[in-house]
Amino acid sequence: MCGIVGYIGDKQATPILLEGLTKLEYRGYDSAGIAILNDGNINIKKAKGRLNVLKELVEKDNMVGTIGIGHTRWATHGEPSDTNSHPHLSQSGLIAVVHNGIIENYLPLKKWLLEEGYTFKSETDTEVVANLLEYYYNGDIVEAVKKVLDRIEGSYALGVLCKNNPDMIVAARKEAPLIVGIGNGENFIASDIPAILKHTRSVYFLDDHEIAIIKKDSVEFIDMFGRQVEKSLFEVKWDVEAAEKGGYEHFMIKEIHEQPSAIKDTLRGRIIDDSEIVLDDVKITKEDLEKIDKIFIVACGTAYHAGVVGKYVIENLARIPVEVDVASEFRYRNPLVNERTLTIVISQSGETADTIAALKEAKKKGSRVIAITNVVGSSVSREADDVLYTWAGPEIAVASTKAYTTQLIALYLVAMDLAIKRGTITKTKVMELCTELKKLPEKVQYLLDNKDVIQKFASEHYNAKDVFYIGRGLDYAVAMEGSLKLKEISYIHSEAYPAGELKHGTLALVEEGTLVIALATQDDLFEKMLSNIKEVKARGGFLVAFAKQGNLQLEGVVDKVIYIPETLKELTPVLTVVPLQLLAYYMAVEKGCDVDKPRNLAKSVTVE
Ligand code: F6R
Repeated sequence: MCGIVGYIGDKQATPILLEGLTKLEYRGYDSAGIAILNDGNINIKKAKGRLNVLKELVEKDNMVGTIGIGHTRWATHGEPSDTNSHPHLSQSGLIAVVHNGIIENYLPLKKWLLEEGYTFKSETDTEVVANLLEYYYNGDIVEAVKKVLDRIEGSYALGVLCKNNPDMIVAARKEAPLIVGIGNGENFIASDIPAILKHTRSVYFLDDHEIAIIKKDSVEFIDMFGRQVEKSLFEVKWDVEAAEKGGYEHFMIKEIHEQPSAIKDTLRGRIIDDSEIVLDDVKITKEDLEKIDKIFIVACGTAYHAGVVGKYVIENLARIPVEVDVASEFRYRNPLVNERTLTIVISQSGETADTIAALKEAKKKGSRVIAITNVVGSSVSREADDVLYTWAGPEIAVASTKAYTTQLIALYLVAMDLAIKRGTITKTKVMELCTELKKLPEKVQYLLDNKDVIQKFASEHYNAKDVFYIGRGLDYAVAMEGSLKLKEISYIHSEAYPAGELKHGTLALVEEGTLVIALATQDDLFEKMLSNIKEVKARGGFLVAFAKQGNLQLEGVVDKVIYIPETLKELTPVLTVVPLQLLAYYMAVEKGCDVDKPRNLAKSVTVE
């Protein structure tokens, strides 16, 4: 997730682009850049770091010109650096490109362009697009864009400037947001409304496979075959603050809604023909695995909860013992780690002090370390031997949501990769998992579309003093995450238990009306869960159960049932957690809590 912006008109483009980028920093902030076309030259300034670094650069060099494009980056291919920052110029400096998305086939394209004599300065997929445009440029930049779109696979929102066409910006989109803003004698492109809201409230939303040709006084939309596309103008009613949150009240609920696309992005390019798993920077081989007899998963908070799901799944599919540990414990307890251990650290930010220390401890003891992180170039990504990125985009709300679901996806991919290499999984099972993984985004969307039920429930129960979450197996792992979400943003006391443990103590706390959330999505454990549910009900608990669609056995037994779409047992956590995130969110909203910035908490815990 990056942010792009573009301007064409009579005003100076530089301040408009810089201001636009400020409003898009929530989409990425590891580097930024702008390109201004003036007098037949493209002038580029770009730098690693927050926007201020770019602003200082620009101040030193008066970037004059009335047409330009800008970018704020959240690195995917290539770590944050000046060179990897956008815009990217084609080899001869003819064309400049800004891009949000992931070009899946950039490596074969790059190889082919190298053979054609092109050279590359950066490690990015975007520079491939710039050089490919130059390759196809034959005097008509729109034609070149059409040809390039035909060759690239993946997701993109593109803004293109060509030296020979000082009167236009060409933009295109597939599976990444892009809008065209209409002004008076000036027009804009942007990843999102806030970037241009100060200048216009009239926007077109580009759809997949559409190209926009933006001039100062006109905008034309065509499809990939060059046919005209008629589009309707949208009048934005939001204020700037609402627009930054995509019209949502808080970043947290926006991020909950971003999960279908975050999951899709994290899967993108990693499943080949439903039979092969390709994990870019995880280079562990079959031979390496023969030397591994134990796995440690180490993380904090929500990432630790993802790790608990990871344990179940890796043990089940790859048949290796897995221990999950909280990083602050692992680092000080002299864990039994050696060169036969594989350590997987999970961290959204990649900067959590305890997780970094645990990673170093594991390495010191001879373990190979795989990092699962959301931030390219973060400390854990640099320290680890192998890295698997979750493509969730920046997570702004303190309470983690889309990072968790994408960590689960990353863990499924790792589990399958290990299982395939160890020969512990059948081809049929791999195929089943791949097929179902790809269906998760639409199932998550279904849950989001039905959020009203959760919202209504929250409005009736937000006064709860204590909430207990119970589950067995994978449901217990999700219960822990549901409970953490609730307590951290609503300040309601909550605890999660393996359902079978309740009667060993905690059941004493259940009295008339105590809210108990029972997760019962696992077929093989359902009967056991049913007994535990009845135990709670008999003590007067108010029970909300989560069950699989089609399983009606809890109707009449509990006070409310929330149904989760059918999927493979292993994958259920990705779905079950969504209504739990929504429940926590709506309870906190009802209580008037500062949802995005809960008291006493920070987004990235860089101190011990
Ligand atoms: C809870 C939450 C935290 C983080 C934890 C680890 O919603 O966000 O529990 O999961 O602080 O952070 P990362 O993943 O950045 O290492």
